[in-house]
Amino acid sequence: MRVLRVLSIIALIAMLAVIAGCERKVVNQVSNDNQQLTGCFACHGEESFGGAILEAQGEWQNSVHASGTNIDYTNRGGGNDCTRCHSQQGFIEFLNTGAVSAPYSTVSAIHCFTCHAPHTNGNLNLRTEAPFALLNATVFDHGAGNLCANCHHSRMSAASIASPTDSISTRWGPHHGPQGDLFEGTNGYQYSSPTVAYESSPHRTLFADGCIDCHKGNPLTHDGYKIGGHSFNMVDEATGSDLSAGCARASDCHPSAKSYNFKAKADYDGDGTISGVQTEFLGLLDTLKTLLIADGYLDSASSLPTNKRVATGAAGAVYNFLILEDDRSEGVHNFKYEVALIKNSIVYLKAHPAGSSALVAGRQD
Ligand code: HEC
Ligand code: HEC
Ligand code: HEC
Ligand code: HEC
Ligand code: HEC
Repeated sequence: MRVLRVLSIIALIAMLAVIAGCERKVVNQVSNDNQQLTGCFACHGEESFGGAILEAQGEWQNSVHASGTNIDYTNRGGGNDCTRCHSQQGFIEFLNTGAVSAPYSTVSAIHCFTCHAPHTNGNLNLRTEAPFALLNATVFDHGAGNLCANCHHSRMSAASIASPTDSISTRWGPHHGPQGDLFEGTNGYQYSSPTVAYESSPHRTLFADGCIDCHKGNPLTHDGYKIGGHSFNMVDEATGSDLSAGCARASDCHPSAKSYNFKAKADYDGDGTISGVQTEFLGLLDTLKTLLIADGYLDSASSLPTNKRVATGAAGAVYNFLILEDDRSEGVHNFKYEVALIKNSIVYLKAHPAGSSALVAGRQD
């Protein structure tokens, strides 16, 4: 009882301190939520919101969102839409108007005011949680994770591979960060009459908030500011510590998982050993890559597509290789779907040696 009273007095004092601090700063400054990052503590005490802002800031500082190494590089005009995902200014303008007017005179990294609009909303709700339509029109709808899909999606629809004018090149493909599509189990290149059915792993329906349920971690499974929370990192590269305790959270999940690379159910890559899921995935992806190089679709040194017109099905196999490599979860996001994409691509390539089928112009799959 007594402890409670003391706590509520402390809370009251903290609240008064916040209000007093705000009153001095209210003038003009908070009317615009699209601003460069002004540390929240300039106006709110460090202990405000139960210390949650302090913690969020500590984690965010260790995120790739904060490091913003590509902010200037991607601040381009000329019809490029890079900024809609790569900077605060572009993201917000795109959200409000559906277009960007880059380059911007000042650009800032993805920070608190990119994902939150506290002074417009009056709380820490996300700027958007609206379902997000991927480029192939499939709707990604996973609660708070919808925010992530706004930026983490493929920039090309696999359906466009049927286009007669299409040809592969070093710059062709889905771009970095197609995680939204793969998590949703869509927008890989899907062959008709596949050998392996295109199904999704339970991850797709298991998590109310999609991406966030794993990448934000559970406060009990991550310590420090390097993994989980607003770092959104799954692994602390310096120490190797990870959030795999989250994989084991229920007996019908992966109860014995000690890492993300826990033992697979089968020898997916056919090398005679049942290894970890990620090892099996990488083994399969490597088989696909070897075939694509042998057929001259990928350059052996850079692993990028060569510049040529190829059969539709072959272009699809190249696209699948690129989207799975760019996903970077090594099969975790949607193991079933990702394995099906690789296996069916391999079946296609083996049945259609290079040069044996018509170019993209005439669908041959
Ligand atoms: C320039 C001063 C200033 C800065 C910087 C600032 N705030 Fe505020 N904030 C205010 C003021 C003043 C209010 C109350 C008036 C209002 O809602 O506009 C407020 C209100 C809020 C509220 C609404 C809840 C409440 O207690 O009133 C939240 C949530 C909030 N701020 C979060 C943040 C976060 C998170 C940051 C950093 C990203 C931040 N603020 C940065 C001045 C500031
Ligand atoms: C639809 C959103 C989106 C658009 C538009 C976009 N990007 Fe990206 N980009 C991302 C995401 C998400 C990542 C991070 C993916 C990851 O780490 O897995 C990324 C990563 C990158 C990287 C880092 C790659 C690396 O290996 O570290 C570069 C460079 C880049 N983008 C350049 C560009 C350029 C240039 C443009 C415009 C021509 C552009 N991006 C447009 C979402 C986008
Ligand atoms: C890339 C997007 C992103 C950025 C950048 C971001 N946040 Fe968040 N924030 C989130 C998400 C997602 C949640 C969880 C919302 C949910 O589950 O409904 C959240 C939740 C919060 C919460 C509630 C407590 C918690 O951790 O769940 C606070 C406080 C917060 N953010 C503050 C900040 C501050 C301060 C910054 C800047 C230092 C910041 N955020 C930057 C996405 C972001
Ligand atoms: C405004 C667009 C945007 C939003 C919203 C966004 N991201 Fe990102 N994210 C990016 C970009 C761009 C990069 C790569 C930045 C770079 O390399 O310069 C990135 C990088 C990352 C990385 C680091 C990848 C690495 O290289 O290690 C992770 C993890 C990540 N985002 C997860 C999330 C999650 C989870 C959410 C939802 C809470 C989210 N992102 C929301 C644009 C966004
Ligand atoms: C089931 C848990 C889970 C969900 C849900 C999930 N991820 Fe991941 N994600 C992972 C794991 C595990 C890795 C790989 C970590 C490793 O082995 O390096 C990863 C890797 C990534 C990476 C590469 C950078 C990194 O940290 O390794 C990005 C970016 C990413 N995820 C973004 C997303 C986005 C965006 C979503 C939602 C569309 C999402 N993830 C959903 C677990 C998840």
